[in-house]
Amino acid sequence: MIKDKVIIITGASSGIGEATAKLLASKGAKVVLGARREAKLKQLTDQIRQSGGQAVYQELDVTRPQENESIVKLAKEEFGRVDVIFLNAGLMPNSPLSALKTDDWHQMVDINVKGVLNGVAAVLPAFLEQKSGHVIATSSVAGLKAYPGGAVYGGTKWFVRDFMEVLRMESAMEGTNIRTATIYPAAIHTELLTTISEKETLNQMQGIYDRYGISPERIANVVAFAIDQPEDTTINEFTVGPANQPW
Ligand SMILES: NC(=O)c1ccc[n+]([C@@H]2O[C@H](COP(=O)([O-])OP(=O)(O)OC[C@H]3O[C@@H](n4cnc5c(N)ncnc54)[C@H](OP(=O)(O)O)[C@@H]3O)[C@@H](O)[C@H]2O)c1
Repeated sequence: MIKDKVIIITGASSGIGEATAKLLASKGAKVVLGARREAKLKQLTDQIRQSGGQAVYQELDVTRPQENESIVKLAKEEFGRVDVIFLNAGLMPNSPLSALKTDDWHQMVDINVKGVLNGVAAVLPAFLEQKSGHVIATSSVAGLKAYPGGAVYGGTKWFVRDFMEVLRMESAMEGTNIRTATIYPAAIHTELLTTISEKETLNQMQGIYDRYGISPERIANVVAFAIDQPEDTTINEFTVGPANQPW
């Protein structure tokens, strides 16, 4: 059931997070939106409310543990509990390793890896206490296969895969009723490519996305599907992409 579930979404200001927030709110979820761009979050929250949905937002930088804790607190204060966290914030400033864009490497580790750790650390106490919860994370097809230009990005997404699978196993072993779902999107039209500063990589990726990219609503659909399953059922993994993308 989605209706009345309290769902935190990180990276909600654009792309997959934004599409998911709209869809879940339209199905009666109470959404709690986090990202760094406050104006975008406010606009989205207003839009959801005008359509009759329930939403609140908080400026959130997932690299800061305290801000992850405060968005969990906001969910509890506004809606009484947290049922789901969608760990979706991420960026993909790809480039060949030889370009030595070390600031980008570290940023990807901070956001795509540590952001997930911070989110889980913030929500786990509530999930353990209530003996239920759902952790959903956005990995990538780059977390399933290696791609030149994506050594660090792929590494961060492989991390998400391993981390989520162990979370699932440990939750089952400990009987905490915490469900997990990991999403592996391929080319989805979002703002993701704007994070690439290396010209050649950007041109190459842009060509792929122009040819194959599909709407972020497709990912929102599978997030909703995972949440909608009965509480005794976990759908661990979804690989989702354009039907005509040949890899
Ligand atoms: N699009 C694709 O083809 C694709 C494929 C596979 C996986 N993914 C993954 O999907 C997820 C969502 O990306 P997207 O494609 O929807 O791209 P997007 O439109 O660029 O969205 C990324 C979101 O992450 C947020 N974000 C970035 N850094 C953050 C930080 N430090 N703290 C909090 N929020 C932060 C951004 O908001 P602010 O800038 O406002 O903070 C934005 O809301 C990412 O994890 C990405 O790796 C995307």
